Amino acid sequence: MIAAADFKITKVEHSRLNDTNLENIPFGKYFTDHMLEVDYENGEWKTPEIKPYQSFMMAPSLAALHYGQAIFEGVKAYKNPIGEAFVFRPHDNFRRFNASAERMQMPPIPEEIFMEGIRALINLDKGWIPSQEDHSLYIRPFMFSTDEMIGVKPSEKYKFMIILSPTGPYYNTPMRIYVEEEFVRAVPGGVGYAKAAGNYGAAMFATAEAKKKGYDQVLWTDAFEHKYVQECGTMNVFFIIGNKAITPDLGAGTILAGVTRDSVMTMLTELGLTVEERSLSIDEIIEAHKAGQLREVFGTGTAATISLIKELRYKDYTMEFDINHWEVAPSVKNKLNMIRYGLTKDNYGWMFKI
Ligand code: COI
Repeated sequence: MIAAADFKITKVEHSRLNDTNLENIPFGKYFTDHMLEVDYENGEWKTPEIKPYQSFMMAPSLAALHYGQAIFEGVKAYKNPIGEAFVFRPHDNFRRFNASAERMQMPPIPEEIFMEGIRALINLDKGWIPSQEDHSLYIRPFMFSTDEMIGVKPSEKYKFMIILSPTGPYYNTPMRIYVEEEFVRAVPGGVGYAKAAGNYGAAMFATAEAKKKGYDQVLWTDAFEHKYVQECGTMNVFFIIGNKAITPDLGAGTILAGVTRDSVMTMLTELGLTVEERSLSIDEIIEAHKAGQLREVFGTGTAATISLIKELRYKDYTMEFDINHWEVAPSVKNKLNMIRYGLTKDNYGWMFKI
């Protein structure tokens, strides 16, 4: 078993922190001083190394580049008013990471490497956690195959890494969404529920087509009928219809079990709404809109947190929303932020103290 004390730590000689402006930062562009790297070989994980953030060499035959055995996670660290660092629900990301690893025929990462890796890195790079509203330190654990061999088979070697990126909101403004009827993100039996790198690459063409039509993202629908909604861009999606909050269920394995999705369901229940996880068709959404019952639509995700959807377009039917009068999404966001930034008691044990 690998313990935190076994990590090999090499610190930077000069921090880049003072040269980086931590205000109004775009998502995923800047990285902190340190990163974690650990290799899997001969059936075991080697000693994890924490070292200065740096590029590395790779062979052109690196298996991950050819067949996409690559998975990742997104987690966030926050600072409370007295400057203590906390990570939001990292154990949930750890479990989901290993579920993705299993689906992609990759070895599980031991909990000590994932959790203690995050703890040790944040301890070193705590100063990089931004204090500005809606900002945080995005934690990106990822794993990829490293065999240097282009036969199609599960790799025997892997690399697990964690990098940290101080970040602002992923989607800055309320979004216009195109309901996708041609392209597909996930099918039952596929990898939709896994955080496989290829899921994101595969979504780019449809998203680019929607952008050409003037939309920000697509709302994915099921592969067979293009009728039941799945996810929205890189987010889970919620519809407030009357006094109900409805989000697609995870049953078919086509939807990522979002940690923010789960937290939002808890907050919605606290707000007195009935939360339903079930199939939801675009026809039901349109009917609710026509009946004046479709109150709010929003996406949730680690990067996105809670992003308002101001327009939904399905065929030639457009649903526009006056987001200035919404109550549910802003309240949920506020309740979650209060917990994340340590401004209220964390009754759920969600905040992992560093
Ligand atoms: C996340 O919310 O962490 C994601 O994985 C979305 C993304 C930026 C790919």
